[in-house]
Amino acid sequence: MYAFQRCIAPLCRATFDVTEVMTSCPDCGSLLDIDYEWDKLPVPKSLREFEARWSNRHNPLDYSGVWRFRDLLPFAADKDIVTIGEGQTILQQNQPVGKYVGMNPGKLYLQYEGLNPSGSFKDNGMTAASTHARMVGAKMAACASTGNTSASLAIYASTAQLFRVVVFVGSGKIAYGKLSQALDYDARTLQILGDFDDALERVREVAGERGIYLCNSVNPFRLEGQKTIMYRILESLNWQVPDWIVVPGGNLGNSSAFGKAFIELKMLGLIDRIPRLAVINAAGANTLYQLYEQRGVRWDGGMSDDGTVNQFFADMDHDQRKASTLASAIEINRPVNLKKCLRALDACDGVVRQVTDQQILDAKAQVGAGGFGCEPASGASVAGAKLLRAEGVIAPSDRVVCVLTGHQLKDPDITVAYHSGNKSLFDEKLRPLGVESAEFANSPIVVENNLQKIIEVLSR
Ligand code: F0G
Repeated sequence: MYAFQRCIAPLCRATFDVTEVMTSCPDCGSLLDIDYEWDKLPVPKSLREFEARWSNRHNPLDYSGVWRFRDLLPFAADKDIVTIGEGQTILQQNQPVGKYVGMNPGKLYLQYEGLNPSGSFKDNGMTAASTHARMVGAKMAACASTGNTSASLAIYASTAQLFRVVVFVGSGKIAYGKLSQALDYDARTLQILGDFDDALERVREVAGERGIYLCNSVNPFRLEGQKTIMYRILESLNWQVPDWIVVPGGNLGNSSAFGKAFIELKMLGLIDRIPRLAVINAAGANTLYQLYEQRGVRWDGGMSDDGTVNQFFADMDHDQRKASTLASAIEINRPVNLKKCLRALDACDGVVRQVTDQQILDAKAQVGAGGFGCEPASGASVAGAKLLRAEGVIAPSDRVVCVLTGHQLKDPDITVAYHSGNKSLFDEKLRPLGVESAEFANSPIVVENNLQKIIEVLSR
């Protein structure tokens, strides 16, 4: 095996075998990467070689939109790979949403990850984590989640039947679509009396104590799978590199994985330039925005300013500030992948922005009216692109890809509260989070149970 785990801290860089199970460096506590001895591996000469796999789709590994690219995440033997057909996604060039964002025709693309088996991008990572869990013979796996990670882990456990699962969710705003998945896929579900950050802290302790395999994005194998979202975007663009990738930021696993994907592709000579990365926070959960844009924290070759970061979190605790956004998927105070995300922003000349829940829901309605639809957190990427366009950071002629991380049906309550025109629902669900209007609402029309009246309504 030419794969190994490696500490990301420049003064440590300790390495470990891929068969070891850990989610931080035992020597210094930093995050871990999966790294490869690329010179000893059969890396394709050109990304186009991956296209040949399309003709071999009777092989589940070639059918998978993750493992089709297995030469770029070569940590597992084929026989160990756990796949349920993840990554059958589409890059949709979207005119109406492009117009809303302010792009020239043909320049705005939506990478729709809702087509994954559990309805979110998480399956890209969970197939990789499940594969590693199988490699190490894990009997039980766990995660903390705002809903999608738990849905994804639960579907892999139910379909692969290799390990049992326990998921920890906060007691706050988990969307019912997501909670229903964990329950229906028969995952043991613990609702912790706390928020996501509390649930993550507890599950890390429990996993350490009981030897349970942890599937949050501190698991470096998960991020290897999430790199493939970028490969599929390049593939859909006929292997051309876009100008911008725009992605919502929560625990910052995706942005970290995207950066790693591009760093590696460039290093391997498979692309000649790296796109810019925009990570979009909800304004009510804006740790990355605060640190990167307001306090100037940077990767700095791995020597980022921990003092400023620690002070920020100390103030957050002291002031009892808690993340609060309708985009419940990204309602996170302490993003665990902060350092890796800083590395990605450094490599991709990145920017971070925050958008309000109002902007998120309006953008989400536009995505629904012009495409596959998405859940609130995913709307943040389109709202963020619109903001960056208005600022002139994104040019109208740039080629921009917004990643839609989760399916439209994940959170129907918010969608109905926005569209229905029901004032008490709006006041109960949306107004407390600062949403004042529903500019793009498509309200149902109430009509009498009478043919004439229905025809009258239709001819208006
Ligand atoms: N979009 C959706 C739909 C998500 O579910 C998440 C994260 C994100 C964006 C943020 O991605 O953490 O990689 O920055 N959801 C996690 C969960 C936290 O538990 O399902 P990130």
